[in-house]
Amino acid sequence: MLLFRLSMKLVVIGAGYVGLVTAAVFAQFGNSVIVVEIDKNRIRQLSEGKIPFFEPGLEELIKSNVKTERLSITDSYQKAIPQSEIIFLCVGTPTKNGRADLSSIYSSVKSIAENLKNKVTVVIKSTVPPGTNEKVRKVFEKTTKVEIELASVPEFLREGKAIEDTLHPYRVVIGARNKDTIKKLLKLHQKISGKRMVCSPESAQMIKYASNAFLPSKISFANSIARICDNFGINIEEVMKGMGMDKRIGPDFLNAGLGYGGSCFPKDIDALLYLSESVGYDFSILKAVKKTNNDQVDFFVNKIISLCSGSVKGKILVVLGLSFKPNTSDMREARSLYVIHRLQKLGAVVRACDPVAISEAVKVLCKADFYVDPYEALKGADGLVLVTEWDEYKNLDFVKIKKIMKSPIVADGRNIYNREGLEKLGFTYEGIGK
Ligand code: UDX
Repeated sequence: MLLFRLSMKLVVIGAGYVGLVTAAVFAQFGNSVIVVEIDKNRIRQLSEGKIPFFEPGLEELIKSNVKTERLSITDSYQKAIPQSEIIFLCVGTPTKNGRADLSSIYSSVKSIAENLKNKVTVVIKSTVPPGTNEKVRKVFEKTTKVEIELASVPEFLREGKAIEDTLHPYRVVIGARNKDTIKKLLKLHQKISGKRMVCSPESAQMIKYASNAFLPSKISFANSIARICDNFGINIEEVMKGMGMDKRIGPDFLNAGLGYGGSCFPKDIDALLYLSESVGYDFSILKAVKKTNNDQVDFFVNKIISLCSGSVKGKILVVLGLSFKPNTSDMREARSLYVIHRLQKLGAVVRACDPVAISEAVKVLCKADFYVDPYEALKGADGLVLVTEWDEYKNLDFVKIKKIMKSPIVADGRNIYNREGLEKLGFTYEGIGK
């Protein structure tokens, strides 16, 4: 006997990255999904078929599911909540004064509770500290008599690969205690590949924080080794390749460069540091991970200064790649912001170039000149500064670039170029640990 129907009535609270991707994927599986978003401007954009950020494949997936009426978007809890079987909380939990700000969680929980009619499962997908479920339960109990089941199913999606990561994650972590809730959530996720991990909601929440602290630890470790390699003339890429061949270490997240940015790693590290302080533990490894990441910017800017014979004052420097990583328009904690601010402070004239993120970058970089075409930007420039490794920048025509630049200087913050090849063409090249 089938305990649950194959298609379910789902509500997703929050039309950000996590919410829209979750909604689109579950709608594609045949479920009926309503997204609740309180930002009217965002609803208007979405109803015109526009996704408020760049995420490959998402617009098409949303459009096709809106067309078949499996997916709809509203600002009304009253309309969405009463019929729902499972509600996903996908609202933002930014850090405020170092700790996770859960105000959006609590305000949406209150709105859900006020509109509940039947027993429902509420799944927290947002990244929240362990212990949040109990606080959320109390808000429900204060507001409604309707029975709820709480679970925590953290997301592990990467921007730019969000759909792929949702469909084919390494694992689906289901944090729940109630047997029926676990069965229901396993059923809902059955078309998603990857291993299953069933645990307590608190473990699920800690798995998310620990993962988002461990991955940047690998990056900072690689960057620290790169600093030593840099001094000894050793190629960091060879070192990391050899290291990554050990299955216990693994080859991923060992690319040395300008370090990590984005909407998750920096904020989750801060939240975990806050959490550890709250229990009186000095998480010194994590503090060092953060410091190493910040130091990479200074290290790189110093390299640019020496490439420019001791001063960047008045020099035209072209920064290639503005978003925090390729395939996204997200500028949050992008390394480009730190590099550009430092260079501008030192008197450089910055031309900022990106294939996608300019509309976001203009909001946070007021003094730079913006370019989409790298060749346009490089005309008469004193230096090429690679910050984000978009594919567009990997196979540039350096013969042409040599002719149009004023000084043939390349500072490669992501180690994507070949030193020998560039030096043969007459460029002066600096990478990070190579
Ligand atoms: C990350 C996690 O990967 C994802 O599982 C989690 O749920 C959300 O946070 P995301 O922030 O989208 O995803 O980006 P990711 O691809 O992980 O890269 C993060 C940052 O690390 C980028 O700035 C990237 O440039 C940097 N990075 C990554 C390195 O500097 N070196 C590496 O080897 C890998």
